[in-house]
Amino acid sequence: MPDRYAPDTHHALVLIGGGGHAAVVLDAARLAGWRVDGFYDDNAEAPLSSEAPHLGTIRDITRDLPEYQRPILAIGDLRARLTLLAENVPHELGERFATVVHPRAIIAGNVEIGAGTFVGPGAIVNARARISVDCIINTGAIVEHDCWVRANAHIAPGAVLAGGTQIGRHTLVGVGARTLPMAKIGMWSVVGAGAAVTHDVPDRTVVAGVPAKPVGRSGRRSEDVEHAYRSRAITLHEDPPATQAEGTT
Ligand SMILES: CC(C)(COP(=O)(O)OP(=O)(O)OC[C@H]1O[C@@H](n2cnc3c(N)ncnc32)[C@H](O)[C@@H]1OP(=O)(O)O)[C@@H](O)C(=O)NCCC(=O)NCCS
Repeated sequence: MPDRYAPDTHHALVLIGGGGHAAVVLDAARLAGWRVDGFYDDNAEAPLSSEAPHLGTIRDITRDLPEYQRPILAIGDLRARLTLLAENVPHELGERFATVVHPRAIIAGNVEIGAGTFVGPGAIVNARARISVDCIINTGAIVEHDCWVRANAHIAPGAVLAGGTQIGRHTLVGVGARTLPMAKIGMWSVVGAGAAVTHDVPDRTVVAGVPAKPVGRSGRRSEDVEHAYRSRAITLHEDPPATQAEGTT
């Protein structure tokens, strides 16, 4: 793991969420060398309570979080994540979110990974890929060269993004799904588990199957929460990528 994702000794991690995904983030963080102070969840008896201290409810996360503590969202569901980020977590904390990378993820030397993003065990992020803020690159997912994953997207376990794939904000690429090189998938979309994306996917579209076909709509009534999310005090890394993929993998 490149040193740039290793925690420094002056900071401790706090998790937002105490369910199944939080257990994965907790394990990765501890293996990576983070001191984890505990978790925030409205349920003090959440599954994580047997492994880490419960620090309070979501409302207890304030801008007065001690300077040495760095939060990360540890909730898998994209809409729940977005609502928390947009409405519950003080925007001033945005820049302080930690990037947590499992020590046995493989990260190329020249990639960009934003604040608040989690990269799980066995994931591969290859050359010149850009991962924006608040994303999940889950267990064993492969993000090939020159991919561009925008804010709060979730690449689920075992999914494969071929070279140059672009993923829009708040989009889920389901378990074991894959994309052809240079595919463009819009924002608020869902790629069903096991799907093979052979054509671009518009915004707010659910696709499934091999080859993937539209099967529904997603992300309705999302404008308000999207607006609130974008006012977070963070850089969303939304500029066009500096390089375009020229080949395939
Ligand atoms: C594609 C998906 C979004 C559809 O969800 P949904 O609208 O709730 O669909 P339903 O479960 O009601 O299923 C509707 C139909 O689609 C089929 N279907 C569901 N998921 C499918 C998939 N991934 N590929 C092909 N067909 C699928 C169902 O069998 C069902 O068919 P039927 O009507 O003939 O019985 C969802 O099933 C999916 O794959 N989500 C991704 C989950 C995931 O990977 N999460 C990450 C966890 S870390």
